[in-house]
Amino acid sequence: MKITKPLNLALVALAGFTFACGGGDKTSETTSTPAVETPAAPEKEISLEEKYQDDPIYIKGLAKLKTSDCTSCHMVERKIVGPSYADVAAKYEATDENITMLAEKVINGGVGVWGEIPMPPHTALSMEDAKDMVSYVLLLKK
Ligand code: HEC
Repeated sequence: MKITKPLNLALVALAGFTFACGGGDKTSETTSTPAVETPAAPEKEISLEEKYQDDPIYIKGLAKLKTSDCTSCHMVERKIVGPSYADVAAKYEATDENITMLAEKVINGGVGVWGEIPMPPHTALSMEDAKDMVSYVLLLKK
């Protein structure tokens, strides 16, 4: 009997709180409903990897790129030693001419387009592999 009374009081207090909170929620819910229309927001932050991951050019080029040392100097969206792939893609249209020209540069190496740091030659690469890699790079447009 000694315990029941404070317990009852606590329960009443709890019920009171729940009711008060519930009531409060309802009012704020009704007033803020028109403003809660933002489900489109996450779409904006999609990465280039996610954007193109299902493209056959992406899949093939990336697989070949991973067998070489490209990633030690290039990242998709950030410049490290070399320009980001996104920057290269923004500079060149993916035409046959540009793909051949850039594939030759990857094979032979080169300097002066993006700065003072040279890209070393990759003479072990076939023209076909270099072109697939470059096609992947030029796909990565924002
Ligand atoms: C040791 C660092 C390094 C490695 C490894 C490297 N690159 Fe580069 N890459 C560079 C630099 C530096 C440049 C900028 C050259 C310039 O300014 O002309 C560049 C430029 C490029 C360009 C743009 C060329 C142009 O003329 O605009 C492409 C495409 C490219 N790299 C692809 C690749 C691929 C594919 C690989 C792997 C096979 C690779 N790179 C490996 C450093 C590197």
